[in-house]
Amino acid sequence: MADGQPFDNRPGEIWFDGAFVPWNDAKVHVLTHALHYASAVFEGERAYGGRIFKMREHNQRLIDSGKLLGFDVPYTVEEIDRACEATLARQGFQDAYVRPIAWRGSEMMGVAAQNNTIHLAIAVWQWPSYFDPAERLKGIRIDMAEWRRPDPRTAPSKAKATGLYMICTLSKHAAERKGYADALMLDWRGQVAECTGANVFFVKDGALHTPTPDCFLDGITRRTVIGLAKARGIEVIERAIMPEELASFEQCFICGTAAEVTPVSEIADYRFSVGDITKTLMTDYADAVRPQQEAVAAA
Ligand SMILES: Cc1ncc(COP(=O)(O)O)c(C=O)c1O
Repeated sequence: MADGQPFDNRPGEIWFDGAFVPWNDAKVHVLTHALHYASAVFEGERAYGGRIFKMREHNQRLIDSGKLLGFDVPYTVEEIDRACEATLARQGFQDAYVRPIAWRGSEMMGVAAQNNTIHLAIAVWQWPSYFDPAERLKGIRIDMAEWRRPDPRTAPSKAKATGLYMICTLSKHAAERKGYADALMLDWRGQVAECTGANVFFVKDGALHTPTPDCFLDGITRRTVIGLAKARGIEVIERAIMPEELASFEQCFICGTAAEVTPVSEIADYRFSVGDITKTLMTDYADAVRPQQEAVAAA
């Protein structure tokens, strides 16, 4: 954390199973199923100007992710929307990051956990830029990860499930140890997949190329960027991309709720320029997330 303040010791309140509790009291027991067996799903949302961008899509994905892990989040999507808005208002921020998380509790402590209560908490904090702002403008440097995204027959890859982030943390740590900002992961077949918290796009001959999201998160930002590109008349090609092809791409950017649209200057030995299409989509995205523009982005 830039301000050095640990996440379990901050001012404010967290929405916890239907009520607000002081931030520092929002605790779970060590014998919580989710802590031992990764039975948790979460969302990352951003509020701009007091409004949470694509909140409904995020909160529906939270419910869908829970179903993929075999549990029902005990709130409707409307209730989760209202709780996110209430938490944002309570924290008093206009621009902020919103983190709902649902998890299996403590009634059973073993692999089987059918009777465990499903909990939901929502925390809101200020998270200005996911990457160093100066580096972001020049384009961030990314390494190739050694770990791969799993076959969808190995893990529920459409779920934003905590367990799937073990691979991301391993990859991100390895990249940061070498001085890179992030890592690009291949999938189980050796095709380009995604970064540790964002989807990836490439530019070649005026068209956008991005991997088909058949074993990783089809990001809400990814879909927004595809819509913005099409609105500009930019061709978008979703297909299998092999790592050898990186040499043929002129521009590259990654996108996600936290990362927004971030240009990439290097992936291991490959170099990219921060070109016009990347800059245009960075600006279009920044405009789209502001409250008065959301209707345009959704169109
Ligand atoms: C692994 C991974 N891929 C992709 C994304 C982008 O998803 P979204 O645009 O819905 O935030 C994220 C962001 O949460 C992520 O963690």
